[in-house]
Amino acid sequence: MAEQQDQKDQPIKINQWAQVTEGTENGIKVLTGKPIARIDAPLKVTGRAKYTSDMHFEGLVHAVPVQATIANGRLKKLDTSAAEKMKGVVGIFHRGNIGPLYRVAPGEGMASKVDETRPPFEDDIIRYYGQFIAVAVAETFEIAQAAAAAVKATYDDVKTPNVSLDLKQEDLKKTESHRGDTKAAFDKAPVKIDHTYVTPMEVHNTMELHSTVALWDGDKLTMFETTQAAVTHQNIIAQMMGVPKENVRVISKFLGSGFGGKLWCWNHSPMAAALSRQLKRPVKIVVTRQMEFTNVGHRPRTQQTIRMSADAKGHLQSLEHEYATQASILDDYKENCGEVSGSLYNVAAVNVTSGVARRHQGTPTSMRGPGAVPGLFALESAMDEMALALKMDPVEFRILNDSQVDLSSGAAYSSRHLVECLQLGAKKFGWSKRDPKIGSMKDGDEILGWGVAACTWQARRLDANVTVEFHLDGRVKIASATHDIGTGMYTVMAELMREETGLPFDRIEVELGDTSLPPGPLAGGSMATGSMVPATVQAAHEAIQRLKKAATSFHSSPLHGEKPDDIEFAAGLLKSKKTRKSIAFEKLMKENNMGIVSGYGSSKGNFGPAEKGKPATKSFGCHFIEIGWNPLLARVRVRRVVTVIDGGRIINYQQAKNQIEGAVVMGIGMGLFEEAVYDARFGDPVNKNFADYVVPVHADMPSIDVTFLDYPDKAVNEYGARGVGEIGLAGVAPAITAAVYHATGVRVREIPVKIEDLLKS
Ligand code: MOS
Repeated sequence: MAEQQDQKDQPIKINQWAQVTEGTENGIKVLTGKPIARIDAPLKVTGRAKYTSDMHFEGLVHAVPVQATIANGRLKKLDTSAAEKMKGVVGIFHRGNIGPLYRVAPGEGMASKVDETRPPFEDDIIRYYGQFIAVAVAETFEIAQAAAAAVKATYDDVKTPNVSLDLKQEDLKKTESHRGDTKAAFDKAPVKIDHTYVTPMEVHNTMELHSTVALWDGDKLTMFETTQAAVTHQNIIAQMMGVPKENVRVISKFLGSGFGGKLWCWNHSPMAAALSRQLKRPVKIVVTRQMEFTNVGHRPRTQQTIRMSADAKGHLQSLEHEYATQASILDDYKENCGEVSGSLYNVAAVNVTSGVARRHQGTPTSMRGPGAVPGLFALESAMDEMALALKMDPVEFRILNDSQVDLSSGAAYSSRHLVECLQLGAKKFGWSKRDPKIGSMKDGDEILGWGVAACTWQARRLDANVTVEFHLDGRVKIASATHDIGTGMYTVMAELMREETGLPFDRIEVELGDTSLPPGPLAGGSMATGSMVPATVQAAHEAIQRLKKAATSFHSSPLHGEKPDDIEFAAGLLKSKKTRKSIAFEKLMKENNMGIVSGYGSSKGNFGPAEKGKPATKSFGCHFIEIGWNPLLARVRVRRVVTVIDGGRIINYQQAKNQIEGAVVMGIGMGLFEEAVYDARFGDPVNKNFADYVVPVHADMPSIDVTFLDYPDKAVNEYGARGVGEIGLAGVAPAITAAVYHATGVRVREIPVKIEDLLKS
């Protein structure tokens, strides 16, 4: 055990990595680094990176969907006559004339996941405001837009929609996690809390709108799609079109962010494919900013009750987490808020139950850190309230209840360093200077509030396949149908190849985002990097092994007759360990008339709970946040964030840091600004634009200080890289509301924090 422990916490030597260096801060192992540019940066800053909606083809037509203007009822009649008469209109399509659009068979897990399972126009029932009821196709976007607006719809059975904000467990009720007797423990515990926390409906609002360009060539379909999951999309579109998977090619080279909103297929995409098939012309659909609020998923509102108890010394005794999340009328998406409740802390009695409340609203979907992010708002808010009830410091309270075992499964963590995160974060933030008295800390007109929260996210892997090719011109190329969704995967892959081959970046080529490449993992769940490592290492080894074989078997090679195992490969050079003779791989290939030397890597995923006998693999971290409350201006702002993340080995320091910083910004949005607000009469989201749906902007930015601990997690992959992204958002909102309480004495349990809440202080 001791030996195992040593091994798992051994920092692997990473000094050869140009941009990452190991070090210590306050005796805790941390990583530092210097920024390196993304290899795709020149393409992006010069506008040469083509995004889906940039694609244009000869004869392309534009399609604009027509949306329902009721949220609950039935489509009676569509009058398309005026629209059809408009010059440049190709046609108005709907249930009656678009042709077959099939449902996707469930049962392949993520490989066939669709959150809105009903294909477009399947029936005439309207279940949410903005539902697509027809689509106008025209020679230009402007004409299509005008034609869509000229389509007149009438409705039957129009009823007031149910968009009620009060969520109860009405359907899909389930016990998520259970151990011990929570009721008995709660009843006899000396210190307890019982509160309900609410998180809002949030919209991903990626800068790049969802879009599709579809073109058929005979019975073969090519689709340019805004997707985080080309391989999944291929499978889904093939089923919706009723054609073999091999007939569909999905391409997505660059993405203007996804945040989970582009993981699964949405209705505009099969619509474009069906139109293109029928019209025999390329078809482009770009979803509007307004449609982004209703037709392509959102994070559902959640309502979560936490009952928690502790003994007088602060040891947790029981945790009940009872939650409901908004769902659409037809679909079964449930926000998995209880995911971490059974595992984050050392508590013997746990009961987590869930359910959904169906509303006349669009289908929710995964949004950055689905489940854990809203779940941790409730859990970490409760932890703060419990610390207060115990008159304990919230950092000490969390450290006291740390657990090195995932008690929900009984599996020990492969590498859990939440305590070090909290200790280092406290040190860097200056937590010891905190006066716990409410409103006691000031800076000029601002009253300061200091809050803290922990965060965690799963570290699992998906299936991955990779090819590595050495080319005659001295380049090495790596390819896989995974994605760079803005996260830096192109650079991460180049970094892995630099590590495996010793070649500089300008001799490494990375190709991603095309189903004609070996099937790669979807870019979601912060899993892509971790998933790609084993297959990449394997493919590189295989290709290098073939080069060694060629070098020792071809007669003209200076290494002829030696054993492949005696050859090393460094910086593109094949070199004998015995004779010190060497040859560059491209020279070997040229002299022996080889065009390409390739290797294939394939690795199985392990998504889901830890397998029996295997450790639990998760990332951990914490945020320390300072807010300023100015009662004269009635203004609250985040002034300072210190974040510490235990995310295993970091492959690319700069981009990992960017991921966490971006996630913290999103957390500020969640805590202070973001909420899709529905009109209860019509079921229409009234703030479906960037003017009224408030997201953080530069003026809202605090200083953000991100530190990574340096504990490679070899249980995840060879490099110990867990992958980061979503974890940076988890825990931000509860740290903000804890800080707001510290400044004002107002406990906000329903986010975003509103000025009206604070005027009570
Ligand atoms: Mo993330 S919600 O898995 O893109």
